[in-house]
Amino acid sequence: MDFSELKDSIQKDLSQIKNSDELKNFSITYLGKKGKIRTLFSELKNVSLEERKKLGQEINEFAKTVQNEADKLEQIFKEREYKLKEAQNKINLDLPGEKIETGHLHPLTITRREIEDIFERMGFEVVEGLEIEDEWHNFDSLNIPEGHPARDALSLGKTLYLKNGGLLRSHTSAAQTRYMQTMKPPIRIVIPGRTYRSEKIDASHEINFYQIEGLMVAKNVSVANLKAVMQVFLKKFFEKETIIRLRPSYFPFTEPSFEIDMTCLICNGKGCAACKHSGWVEILGSGMVHPNVIKNGGLDPQKYKGFAFGMSIDRLTMMKYKIDDIRWFHSGNLKFLKQF
Ligand code: PHE
Repeated sequence: MDFSELKDSIQKDLSQIKNSDELKNFSITYLGKKGKIRTLFSELKNVSLEERKKLGQEINEFAKTVQNEADKLEQIFKEREYKLKEAQNKINLDLPGEKIETGHLHPLTITRREIEDIFERMGFEVVEGLEIEDEWHNFDSLNIPEGHPARDALSLGKTLYLKNGGLLRSHTSAAQTRYMQTMKPPIRIVIPGRTYRSEKIDASHEINFYQIEGLMVAKNVSVANLKAVMQVFLKKFFEKETIIRLRPSYFPFTEPSFEIDMTCLICNGKGCAACKHSGWVEILGSGMVHPNVIKNGGLDPQKYKGFAFGMSIDRLTMMKYKIDDIRWFHSGNLKFLKQF
């Protein structure tokens, strides 16, 4: 290939380069160490010394111009590509958001919130008690004197005492007198929270579980009010036409005391294995607040009456979602949790 031929083909190729890849190929073909311009030099061997000098210079100059042209093109392509990239990286607000798994509420939290919501709609306020309590609030103020089996640490009471004389509340009832002392009747509160008992853990017992306490204290509160509130609550919570019944029971802090049963949700009261063929299932403990408790709350039992109830959020959750073992709740088992 002679010089003028090469000049022409370089000129032509250079004018057709459209991007940096093509430019790279061009540089390799012509300007590289084994490129066509270099090979021209080796062909100079065959011409006279004078010619060689002249031609050599010309080729050198030409090579420089081509290199300059190539550099200019490179700059242009670089800028163009940068701008393109920048345009692509702009935030596009029309793109759908990235989906990430964020988890969800624990079933016990879901039910707690549902329960709170129902009571709030009936005019109750949601308040919190203390998990670390003293004996007076957990027992004495609730008419459970020293020596009473309910205070027992090991057998009946299963209370978890602390070294400093305090204890882990064995029921949310411990908050009853706390709130009576600070609130002015009419009092209408529910107190959800963790409670502790040194249970032998099995399918229906955990050493900590959640309760929700209810307390209403006012001038003319009667068992009829208790019954109405519980009836409305259970119907709303289970979203079923259930009937409740009050069964005489005993708690030191209520008089009279009742266990509240409702018609079995599985057989609708006809009787099945789940309700031991009675048609009824026990749901909660309740009663009219004992006058001594009202007095311990700093209120006049002649003037004020009240009802109280306490139920297990864990048990309500198990009934609602047909969960057969309380231990699932703290198992951390994702197969279980992801169903909610
Ligand atoms: N505190 C009782 C329990 O834990 C339940 C209860 C609360 C009963 C309020 C009557 C009134 O079993």
